[in-house]
Formats: sequence, C-alpha cells, structure tokens
Amino acid sequence: MSAKLLDGKALASRVKETVRCDAEQLTASGVVPGLAVVLVGDDPASRIYVRNKEKNCQELGIRSEVYHLPATTTQAELNALIQKLNADAKINGILVQLPLPAPLREEEVTYLIKPEKDVDGFHPFNLGRLLRGEDGICPCTPAGIMALIKESGIKVCGRECVVVGRSNIVGKPVAQLLLQEHGTVTICHSRTRDLSAMIRRADLLVVAVGKAGLVEGTMVKPGAVVIDVGMNRLPSGKVVGDVDFSSVSKVAGAITPVPGGVGPMTIAMLMKNTVRAALLQNQDKLGKN
Ligand code: GUN
Repeated sequence: MSAKLLDGKALASRVKETVRCDAEQLTASGVVPGLAVVLVGDDPASRIYVRNKEKNCQELGIRSEVYHLPATTTQAELNALIQKLNADAKINGILVQLPLPAPLREEEVTYLIKPEKDVDGFHPFNLGRLLRGEDGICPCTPAGIMALIKESGIKVCGRECVVVGRSNIVGKPVAQLLLQEHGTVTICHSRTRDLSAMIRRADLLVVAVGKAGLVEGTMVKPGAVVIDVGMNRLPSGKVVGDVDFSSVSKVAGAITPVPGGVGPMTIAMLMKNTVRAALLQNQDKLGKN
C-alpha cells in the first residue's frame, strides 16, 4: 500500500473533544444541549446507528432522548411527535433516522423539523443556505468529509473532483461543498455513461453509492485522493466500503479506510451541530458577545 491513510477515527476524537468542552461550557452557563433521536421500526443497521448516537451524546455531555416507535406508526403520529419536539425548549436538535418504513414519507418529516433544530441539515432552508454558500447547519457526512480533507492538508482549489452518487444526504451536498472550495466538480450516478472514464479523471474522488467494491484500482488516477462513504455488510459479516481498498490503496495518494474513515466523522459532526444549535437557540439567555 502506498496511499496515505486518512484517519477519520483519530480526527473525530479530536473534534469530539472540542465539542465536549463546548458542551461543558454551555452546561455551566445553564444550557444543557439536548438531542432527540427518532427511530421508527426495527431495521438492525438503524438500531446500531441510533445506539451509537446515544452513546456519543453520553460521552460528550449532551442530553439525549431516544424515541423508538413501532413500524406501524402513522404519519400523523410521527408528525405529532416532531411538533412536540419542535416546541420543547430542552431539545436543540431533532434527528429522524432514515430510511423510514413504508408508507411514511421522509419529505414530510424533513420539512416539518424546525430548521434551527435540523441537526442533519436536510431541511430545504438549510440546504438552500448551503447552495448559496451561506453559514448554516451542514449535513453531517459531507461536513465530516470536508473536515477530513482540510485537516489532511489536501487542496481542492482547481482540482478535478468526481462525486459518485447523487443522494440528498451525501452526493449533492458534498459536491456543493467541494464547489465552494473551488473544485471543478462532476457528479456521476447510475445513468452515467462511462463511469470508469469519469472516475479516472478525478484528482479527488468521493464514492457514496452503497455497492461493495464498485471502484477498483485500475479505475483510479495514480495519486488521487479517494474518499469512501460506503458501508456495506458482506455475507461474511465483514463491513466494507464502495472502494476495493486493497487495489485502490496501491494506486491512490490518500484513502479513507472503512471502517474508521468517514463514519466516525459523521457522528462527530452531528455532535458538533447539536452543540452549535444549542448555542444559537440560547443566545439571549447566554448574552451575545
Ligand atoms: N441514515 C443514514 N444516514 C443518515 C443520516 O445522516 N441522518 C439520518 N437522519 N438518517 C440517516
């Protein structure tokens, strides 16, 4: 392996330490940051993610409330819970774990969460601010990717950035953030005609598709930075990314491992967004300075 390893786990620990200090200061000033996590149904992966969020809150001094609702929950019941959390001053952040079981509608929930409590950064108001390049709550995985890139001293300005995947959660927002850093950005997706050719152009490649081993070493430009957002569980139980690590790490200049790359950064950014939301919602109480 010749590629430098981009250690998301180590950077996430450092980010979380500053978040812990910020949460401690806020708490000392009478504002305990609070996060509500809503899980509907029993998807095993979602349960693990939610437990991990709860654990991180505990470690960092953020009060967490987990609402685990049955898969039979109606849209009206879910909406009523969101409205209740919107009105609760002790709750600064609301996260509804996605995907929601059918027939619940994600968009309805996304629109309903108050933008200032939308710590996922998925509300159209927050996404609109992101598009305009304005300060706001930024989706956690894209924010984590950018933090990892910056911390590693990787230049984006003027470079060919290729994003594979066009989801609202990762692909579209990360493309926007790379553009803001003056990258030349291409978004590829399932209908892209020659995906290999597009990938080979990339100085910086972000892959967020959910297909194990989609990107192989022969497809990558020597020296490229490769960010792997995939989290795929193989039949053996092993978790791998969308990038074939063994072949790509021989060609790339830098690469994120899975696990231990982007994943830990996502949760660190969620914690950061929650504490920031608590601060912004309590500026009167804390005294603006
Ligand atoms: N499911 C997978 N990733 C995410 C995320 O970042 N936020 C939420 N709410 N659900 C998810």
